[in-house]
Amino acid sequence: MAYLLGLDVGTTGCKTLLIDETGKVVARALSEYPLEVPRPNWAEQDPYHWWDATVATIRKVIADSGVDPSAIKGVGLSGQMHGSVFLDARDEVIRPAILWCDQRTAAQCSWIHNQVGYDNVVAETLNPVLTGFQAGKIVWLRDNEPENFARVRKVLLPKDYVRLRLTGEYATEVSDASGTSLLNVPKRRWSTVMLEGIGIPEDWLPTVYESPEITGYITPQAAEATGLAVGTPVVGGGGDQAAGAVGNGIVRTGVVSSTVGTSGVVFAYLDEPLMDEKLRTHTFCHAVPGKWHTMGVMLSAGGSLRWMRDALCAEEKAEAARRGVDPYELMTAAAAEVPPGAHGLVFLPYLTGERTPYPDPDAKGVFFGLSLMTTKAAMIRAVLEGVAFGMRDSFEIIKAMGVHFTQVRASGGGARSKLWLQIQADVTGEPHWVINVDEGPAFGVALLAGVGAGIWPSVPDACDATIKPVEETRPNLENHALYNSYYSIYQDLYRRLEGAFTSLADLLRTHA
Ligand code: XUL
Repeated sequence: MAYLLGLDVGTTGCKTLLIDETGKVVARALSEYPLEVPRPNWAEQDPYHWWDATVATIRKVIADSGVDPSAIKGVGLSGQMHGSVFLDARDEVIRPAILWCDQRTAAQCSWIHNQVGYDNVVAETLNPVLTGFQAGKIVWLRDNEPENFARVRKVLLPKDYVRLRLTGEYATEVSDASGTSLLNVPKRRWSTVMLEGIGIPEDWLPTVYESPEITGYITPQAAEATGLAVGTPVVGGGGDQAAGAVGNGIVRTGVVSSTVGTSGVVFAYLDEPLMDEKLRTHTFCHAVPGKWHTMGVMLSAGGSLRWMRDALCAEEKAEAARRGVDPYELMTAAAAEVPPGAHGLVFLPYLTGERTPYPDPDAKGVFFGLSLMTTKAAMIRAVLEGVAFGMRDSFEIIKAMGVHFTQVRASGGGARSKLWLQIQADVTGEPHWVINVDEGPAFGVALLAGVGAGIWPSVPDACDATIKPVEETRPNLENHALYNSYYSIYQDLYRRLEGAFTSLADLLRTHA
């Protein structure tokens, strides 16, 4: 039997999965690491923590499964997108990595738009330069930490730093490279226009591959550290969204995914690089060679419910600990007792600013419609509904782009709660399917490793062999009609509050 290893360098931890050649999961391991917030709106991590978690989780899956390392035929890497790891001439990490959810680069993004020309940026990268994306972080380093900037010889994405430690190669792949603002997304190679316009030497960047291609082999040092066999091939893999989409089988037209994790993403496969005319979704290269995708990204989806749990649900957490259950179970059980619409309470989930449909780092979370009837349970329900309204925004944009689909596959924490899944189906009016395997990006890149190792001839073949939809949640049409009215109010609220969000952010910038 051949085995494949998939690794996801996430924001909260590193997940490693070992599957066999039928797609069956034989072992999984998770190792968490901290997220540093040195200032409001900043988010950083120590890349050495990613490496330590990589080593620990690979060792654990090999030990737990008892699989002979020489039977592992390929490794696939996935990870949080957009972050920047700055390396010096000796491959030492110069400063903590600046992550996807860091919002410090607004001035640098405007500078890039002016310097390169907004139309050139869009023609090359198919997107605006957003605060989370990598290019702005490089310019931020130049502007704010010149001594560090002077030492930079390479800039890598998070999973590609782990690849360097595993294989000794500077390599990336098209799906993650799309989120740097430095890739020519239609042509799937680094953009000379962007690099020359900004002043970034191309040799700072890794070689770009297609996602299932082999990018290098496990070195003797990495074998010693992890227990993998020397010479095991490591494929390109994918940014977490493209990799998660492969793991959901979103590899041909007609099927889209809706993933509620920390962020919330509606993801559609594209044969051609199609853009939203207002650039509200991101159009990036897919992990399927020669194909693209578009996705709407909400920054705080599951993150909103986690905030609710940590800020307001200490009692539920204590009760859950006593009963040995997950606090989210108690929270959603309470919310299920509240009728749709939460007695007129509407939640805007912009706790860390937003990307889709409003690329607005200054947007904030809002409860609208508080009254003497409002209970904590109603607030929990409003959070579940507000996130579903945000996901609907992305569905509406993707439909307006002319992307046709007949099936929505739900995944992530938001698909594990029956209530939340029902709310998502009711708000969008779309039946939501869950599939036989919900292992996220690590599963997708294990499949890509299988394609690279020759176990399956193509990415769609790998998905067809291992993934099938198993359960459908249909919308309740009465609730859908009610939610349509709430959705209009939800959309109206942002328009009315946009100016107030900016004023508040200006105030916070001067009086933080
Ligand atoms: C995608 C995005 C997030 C991060 C973290 O554009 O920003 O999905 O990759 O998961």
